[in-house]
Amino acid sequence: MQRIAVFASGRGSNFEAIAAAAERGDLPAEVALVVSDRPDAEVVARAARRGIDCFAFSPKEYASKADYEREIVARLDAAGISLVCLAGYMRLVGETLLEAYGGRIVNIHPSLLPAFRGAHAIEQAIAAGVKVFGVTIHEVDASLDGGRILAQRAFEYDGGNRAEIERRIHEVEHGLYVETIRWLLTSE
Ligand code: GRF
Repeated sequence: MQRIAVFASGRGSNFEAIAAAAERGDLPAEVALVVSDRPDAEVVARAARRGIDCFAFSPKEYASKADYEREIVARLDAAGISLVCLAGYMRLVGETLLEAYGGRIVNIHPSLLPAFRGAHAIEQAIAAGVKVFGVTIHEVDASLDGGRILAQRAFEYDGGNRAEIERRIHEVEHGLYVETIRWLLTSE
């Protein structure tokens, strides 16, 4: 059984979908570790409820990004992690983590990349008046949301209801992330 880690900074609904799929046997993997840069994030409580190990840290308690990433790498190594899934992890992955786990880190982004990179993708898409929204899963490299695209799914929506757009994006994300992780773990 492969062991995966999920990194998140907030709500953790994607973490929940991945962990639930793994528990049901829909993934050939176990979520063995959660990493969060926000000790008060909802994802930290979700991990505890599921009995999954969590490394929650405050970046400001470290002298540099390299310092906290060294600690993350040590935790990933100790947990025997083969795939890192970023799910709302609001930090750029740095050199230290990329050197150790490059090629084994993926991210989910709430737009059809390369459109609308960065933290406010949904707002940018609404502001641009797009009629087709979507989700991208991509490899993580040193760029902002710029790594090789692995999977995308789109839906049409012509309206301005932001809550509805977010709800539909999350619905698409939860299914697509589980499918893509399964494909990655079985095609290697
Ligand atoms: C998702 O929309 C993801 O695409 C983006 O951050 C959000 C995280 O949502 N990167 P959640 O914390 O999984 O609910």
